[in-house]
Amino acid sequence: MDKNYIPRPDLLSGRTILVTGAGEGIGRAAAESYAAHGATVLLVGRTLFRLEDTYDAIVTAGHPQPYLFPLDFSKAEESDYQGLAGGIAQEMGHLDGLLHNAAHLGDLSPMEHFSLKQWETVFRVNVTAEFLLTKHCIPLLKQSHQGAILFTSSGVGQRGIAYWGAYSASKFANEGMAQILADELESEGIRVNTIDPGVARTVMRAKAFPGENPNQNPEPKRLMGAYLYLMGEDSLGHSGERINAWVST
Ligand SMILES: NC(=O)c1ccc[n+]([C@@H]2O[C@H](COP(=O)([O-])OP(=O)(O)OC[C@H]3O[C@@H](n4cnc5c(N)ncnc54)[C@H](OP(=O)(O)O)[C@@H]3O)[C@@H](O)[C@H]2O)c1
Repeated sequence: MDKNYIPRPDLLSGRTILVTGAGEGIGRAAAESYAAHGATVLLVGRTLFRLEDTYDAIVTAGHPQPYLFPLDFSKAEESDYQGLAGGIAQEMGHLDGLLHNAAHLGDLSPMEHFSLKQWETVFRVNVTAEFLLTKHCIPLLKQSHQGAILFTSSGVGQRGIAYWGAYSASKFANEGMAQILADELESEGIRVNTIDPGVARTVMRAKAFPGENPNQNPEPKRLMGAYLYLMGEDSLGHSGERINAWVST
């Protein structure tokens, strides 16, 4: 991706894109940015009032009316993901893009002291939810001419670092799922890539680095060039790749 990439204003016009964790942070910025470029966004996340804030911001800005799907991934069963995909099938009949963005940081502690409960929660939110959502959305993405799936990784999804425990391992799993799916879905014309946001001023970042001055970190909206590029037709032909979002900041 060209670091000076500028998406055209109607890049995602007529496209339907699901964003998880759309109530705050990077997910909210991505949902607003996709809508601003013409997409109808399906806002998925745990906390209803945050999704409603994103919804209101999109509608107030005059962008296509989004849809809300509150779902707590730490508690959801396969039938919930099936129901979500069924709702999309009924309302839209297809899906053009799927951004896996929601994540749970969990404890930062030595593996020796990591609790099974925390480990399972992080994997349920960061891995199992992505698997089940993808599984049930693939038939909808096959109905799109240029379907795109985007997984969110992290620096610790490429290189393990002490104390990053389940979160780091879950991000390695995200990278793996993206590679597997890129291979499996190539013949369907569905591209599957991974994005590493780098550093963004969010609640999760503040929790992971409490000693940092958040004002020195870029706002999520500054990363949106890469998120738009990977969801729009300018990235056609690119699959199984890993992109650093900060190249465009
Ligand atoms: N910020 C960074 O510097 C950075 C760096 C590398 C990677 N990342 C990755 O970028 C992505 C976004 O992170 P962020 O910094 O924007 O985090 P954030 O501000 O904490 O937002 C996380 C989002 O995930 C949702 N979420 C958490 N648990 C959930 C659950 N059980 N069910 C459904 N949704 C749930 C939250 O929903 P609610 O708030 O509505 O409950 C929230 O919208 C994550 O995948 C993260 O790993 C971020």
